[in-house]
Amino acid sequence: MKVCVLPGDGIGPEIVAEAVRVLEALRSDGLALEMETAQLGGSAFDVSGSPYPEATQKLARAADAVLLGAVGGPQWDALPRPLRPERGLLGIRKDLGLFANLRPALLFPELAHASSLKPEIVSGLDILIVRELTGDIYFGEPRGIEVRDGQRVGWNTMIYSESEIRRIAKVGFDAARRRNRRLCSIDKMNVLETTQLWRDVVTEVSADYPDVELSHMLVDNAAMQLVRAPKQFDVLLTGNIFGDILSDEAAMLTGSIGMLASASLDANNKGLYEPSHGSAPDIAGKDIANPLATILSAAMMLRYSFDNEEAALRIENAVKSVLAQGLRTADIWEAGKRRVSTHEMGNAVIAAL
Ligand code: NAI
Ligand code: MG
Repeated sequence: MKVCVLPGDGIGPEIVAEAVRVLEALRSDGLALEMETAQLGGSAFDVSGSPYPEATQKLARAADAVLLGAVGGPQWDALPRPLRPERGLLGIRKDLGLFANLRPALLFPELAHASSLKPEIVSGLDILIVRELTGDIYFGEPRGIEVRDGQRVGWNTMIYSESEIRRIAKVGFDAARRRNRRLCSIDKMNVLETTQLWRDVVTEVSADYPDVELSHMLVDNAAMQLVRAPKQFDVLLTGNIFGDILSDEAAMLTGSIGMLASASLDANNKGLYEPSHGSAPDIAGKDIANPLATILSAAMMLRYSFDNEEAALRIENAVKSVLAQGLRTADIWEAGKRRVSTHEMGNAVIAAL
């Protein structure tokens, strides 16, 4: 298994270093894994003049999975758009054809106090949002702003083809199979034809997954249910725009940005794995960033790209164990707990493995 490692900018190199050490620890236990490092984002621009250089493209295309830190920072904000760090990220996502975004909202019971919701509503929350990433109203044509009858009008096109819906539905059902076998598909079929098709196709795909319980929910109700009783869900399947909003809402239920992993997959389970947070330039280089989101992203990589549930669970259980031991980086620290650095947190996870 070949992994392309992209530390990126800001805290990226610090948190990725810890995830790499965790993977190395599993490798010394027999996990067959090769890792090669390349550059992406602002640091890539600094050395090569491109946020997604050719050498990185080659390595990313040849790899089975990509592990990324984060990109961006104020020192690159003045660059013209095509050279900016986030172009590197958009570039690699497009290049690898990553159409499925998987974002778990997982709240370890020890961190329930970090949520803005009551502990009894969120403690132990474990849901997964599967969001389509390359279609929908964000990409539909035609689009634009023009003057009609003397006033400006703006418009976009919400469009999904049956094949686009089918492939994301499969990812959703497959993910549900690895979890608690319940999938809730989100749409707005009462007013949008696109999402009537969405509901029809998802229902058709469900015939291949008789072991997964399918339900449907209108997006406005889903937004409400996520803050009212989020633990009712297992996997939520959404289009691009609904998923954009609902995945941020779900992420915030946990209140701990340093804990949230993510995956973006292509049709063959090749994936890019990264924490949901950014490059945190305000704390870069201080050895205080929380590496757990990146370590949990590495666990997702083992689960989804390498089909190694056992190794994924080993990492996740190690993370649970360090939290139970009372170790906390600054972002999740509370009185009475032991504050540790980025590197110490990595050490603790490896010890727990
Ligand atoms: P951010 O997620 O980098 O930081 C927001 C806040 O959370 C900051 O106070 C930061 O210190 C804290 N934080 C984030 N990750 C943390 C961690 N692992 N441990 C402890 N604290 C953590 O978002 P922000 O500030 O909006 O963006 C900073 C830079 O990151 C920008 O250049 C932005 O473009 C980039 N960015 C990159 C993303 C990516 O590479 N996928 C995603 C979001 C932002
Ligand atoms: Mg968003």
